[in-house]
Amino acid sequence: MIFIGVLLLYLLAVLGNMIITILACTVSQLHTPMYFFLCNLSVQDIIYVSTILPKLLAITITRDRSIFFSSCITQLFLFALCLVTEFFLLTSMAYDRYVAICNALRYSLIMNRMVCILLATICWIVGTFNSLLFTLMMSKLSFSKEQEVSHFFCDPQTVLKNSCSDTTIIKTLVTMQGLFLGCCPFILILSSYMFIIFTILKIQTSAGRLKAFSSCSSHLMVVFLFYGASLGLNMKPKSEDQQEIEKVLSMLYIAVVPVLNPLVYSLRNRDVFRAMKTCFKHVFPF
Ligand SMILES: *[C@@H]1O[C@H](CO)[C@@H](O)[C@H](O)[C@H]1NC(C)=O
Repeated sequence: MIFIGVLLLYLLAVLGNMIITILACTVSQLHTPMYFFLCNLSVQDIIYVSTILPKLLAITITRDRSIFFSSCITQLFLFALCLVTEFFLLTSMAYDRYVAICNALRYSLIMNRMVCILLATICWIVGTFNSLLFTLMMSKLSFSKEQEVSHFFCDPQTVLKNSCSDTTIIKTLVTMQGLFLGCCPFILILSSYMFIIFTILKIQTSAGRLKAFSSCSSHLMVVFLFYGASLGLNMKPKSEDQQEIEKVLSMLYIAVVPVLNPLVYSLRNRDVFRAMKTCFKHVFPF
């Protein structure tokens, strides 16, 4: 049952995000900054689920939790890369919403294609360098016994616990990364939304207020989902004898977020439906 559930989740995540990526790249009505970043978010979500879920599927079938050290390091690299890139992409999207609402008249001037490309590139570069540094340090650790993935993927905490090297430096680094790369985007997103709320409250008509708010509700929901999942994963009790089922549930929670991202954006937007129709007409012209 777990296998089928996870397989369905995986297929749904890949399919949904692929549809968003294809639509955002091909349909010209969706060539806006919001869909530019959404496209990158979808690509990142596909990498993210493909990093974790196939191994989880293999574990549920074979019940063999051992993993090659090289696979573990690859998984760590991609996992950290996706996590940080997602934080920064969500921040860029918040900035996009801030300009769209608080500086509406100069929106197309400020958020031009160059700025979008620059912001997205920074997101990916920060994610890559940070992950590279982290993974290089992890790969220098030595281990006395065979590696086991306790959390259905190679999570950093388990790897650090199993190592017989001195891990104080790397633990400090991980804490600093969490503080800096998790909190800075959060503060930026929060301040964007403070300005957005002030601006929305100043709008005279309630229809105008609703319209402005609904243009950022999808993004806000994705931010809540993602930060909720990250906090939930970090704050869970770290007892040794944690129930298997609890582990699976917390694991699924991370897997569900990439499934929900495209759903949140497509269900709440008429643009996406219209783009899908246009696409279908091109593919089946009768
Ligand atoms: C980000 O989105 C843009 C616009 O759709 C696309 O050209 C680019 O390839 C994407 N980058 C990545 C790494 O997905």
